[in-house]
Amino acid sequence: MPLDLSDLLAQHMPGHSLDRAFYTDPEIYAQDLETIFYREWQFAIPACQLTKTGAYARVQIGAYNVVLVRGADGEIRGFHNSCRHRGSVLCKAREGAVAKLTCPYHQWTYDLDGRLIWARDMGPDFDPSQHSLKPVHVRDLAGLIYICLAEDAPDFDSFADTARPYLAVHDLDRAKVAYQSSIIEKGNWKLVWENNRECYHCAGTHPALCRSFPLDPAVAGVSADGETPPQLQSHFDKCEAAGAPSRFVMAGYAGQYRLARMPLQERALSYTMDLQPASKRFLGRVSVPDAGTLLKFHYPSTWNHFLPDISLTFRVTPIGPQETEVTTTWLVDKDAVEGVDYDIQRLTEVWLATNDEDRQIVEDNQLGINSPAYTPGPYSPVMEDGVVQFVDWYVKTLQRGMGPRAVAAE
Ligand code: FES
Ligand SMILES: [Fe+2]
Repeated sequence: MPLDLSDLLAQHMPGHSLDRAFYTDPEIYAQDLETIFYREWQFAIPACQLTKTGAYARVQIGAYNVVLVRGADGEIRGFHNSCRHRGSVLCKAREGAVAKLTCPYHQWTYDLDGRLIWARDMGPDFDPSQHSLKPVHVRDLAGLIYICLAEDAPDFDSFADTARPYLAVHDLDRAKVAYQSSIIEKGNWKLVWENNRECYHCAGTHPALCRSFPLDPAVAGVSADGETPPQLQSHFDKCEAAGAPSRFVMAGYAGQYRLARMPLQERALSYTMDLQPASKRFLGRVSVPDAGTLLKFHYPSTWNHFLPDISLTFRVTPIGPQETEVTTTWLVDKDAVEGVDYDIQRLTEVWLATNDEDRQIVEDNQLGINSPAYTPGPYSPVMEDGVVQFVDWYVKTLQRGMGPRAVAAE
């Protein structure tokens, strides 16, 4: 490897964007996959996306291809999408529904729990029980399916125990997918995150979102000094008094996740052009109409918005050193009727526009970084402390994952 990654990490100037190689180099991208995406818990899909027995969804993470499938017992399981015969993929579509998982190559057939139940002409000594599909760790966190590709998954409970009460009031077990969009952004996955973690760009980029989403850096970023402004504290108090956990919490290794129920702009009740709820039938039990949005991020895979009327999940999937997929899912109450309680265009227009605007600026960011003239620049201490926090998490997580030498160089 021409670059010494440990040295590059050690040379990183806090408060500045990363060296060009972190956004462009295929070797560092491979290291990101190995150290972060192949090891950490990641959000995959909302559980309600798999409505019935046999419903499946595929998730590609780097070289791994995973199929999530709902079993006859109602449980969602995850398997490597690779047949135990000669390795063919089993499920080719992005999502679908099957009675059994049948390999398209020689029709080995697996039950929805991964057991091999049929394989033709394999001889008397063949033991099907030794050829079950390889499982992937799966956890259902209040209706959000997380997966982990590592053999030994890191702890999930401390995050799950913290997040569960915040999420519980949103009743995601009562949700249905109203709409899902996947877009490809031609930018490194870290640029997608850096852009997400600040609203320095919002006023100039997001006319639709800015109707409802506040520009206050405390919303997109972190409370750098640990102080909660009085008006924010009274918002937390009001929501919590109504039974909706709200106060700011950031925890996990180097601040891997954050939860906080933040107010929207004055008079805004949801992410709509007219600021009114996006669905007449509310998903969840948040009784304060202007409770705003429960912001949750969990590196490296997801940020989310949970509002009194709807919920939104976002998944970040790296495709290549300069390519990232962003999947957005709009969730409404399962009894909400399209055309009566909500309208798809009205429901989705603000975030479809916002995502596309973000795609454009991330791609422009990548293009500029690709120039040899690029050198790391300073983040705004006022508006971009969330980006500083993300980059700090990234540097520390990579150093930790690479072993003692890198940590010693910290
Ligand atoms: S590779 Fe799947 S049945 Fe042969
Ligand atoms: Fe944005």
